[in-house]
Amino acid sequence: MQKIIIAIDGFSSSGKSTMARELARNIGYAYIDSGAMYRAVTLYALRHGMIDADGRMDAERLVASLPDIRIDFRVDDTTGKSRTCLNGEDVEDEIRGMEVSSHVSPVAAIPEVRHRLVSLQQEYGRDKGIVMDGRDIGTTVFPNAEMKIFVNASPEVRAHRRLLELQQKGSSADYEEVLANIRERDHIDRTRKESPLRQADDAILLDNDNMTHQEQMDFLLKTFRHIVDGKH
Ligand code: CDP
Repeated sequence: MQKIIIAIDGFSSSGKSTMARELARNIGYAYIDSGAMYRAVTLYALRHGMIDADGRMDAERLVASLPDIRIDFRVDDTTGKSRTCLNGEDVEDEIRGMEVSSHVSPVAAIPEVRHRLVSLQQEYGRDKGIVMDGRDIGTTVFPNAEMKIFVNASPEVRAHRRLLELQQKGSSADYEEVLANIRERDHIDRTRKESPLRQADDAILLDNDNMTHQEQMDFLLKTFRHIVDGKH
């Protein structure tokens, strides 16, 4: 069967990563979390003192360091989930914390950072058979993707989901802090100059405020089969 590219974009904590990972597993495709790549670059900047306590960033130094930043994904044998590595070190847990979340959107707004990560992402999709989630996958990374989904849910629902996720990992973030971070990232992601978050004209909107997990997966699988069958 001919393989396609599936682009899943949407707002922070809209559930797109879980959705994309499960869809990929169901159809035997590879899954790439593009947000994890921006998070890994942010962690590098934090560790190398390129972002100070007030959040001021030395973008010039970060851009000069880009050739030294190697990001790859390794599959965990026990869980089967992919884990993000920064220069060979597993940073999967660290990049999900509030410190990285609070600084990632300004880092992702730097054009040179985007250019570098977009070309890596395009490389992953060269042979198709891939599900990638992010903010600009259907608009910039793969504008010709055969299947594009744009996911949305209200900021409050998304904040509850993210809080639960953080609590399950033993983190003590509070609801107001998480909600404020989501609103702030929405704003930066939507208004930045370089490939802002927006729904591609040919993307299908999936508003999942009131959808169960199963309804969502059924919808995605039906859409996938429809597109793939239509290609014969
Ligand atoms: O998991 P969550 O939806 O909160 O965010 P993420 O997908 O891990 O992405 C983290 C941040 O990276 C976003 O808030 C964006 O600022 C940025 N990002 C981006 O600019 N472009 C992408 N393709 C993916 C993420």
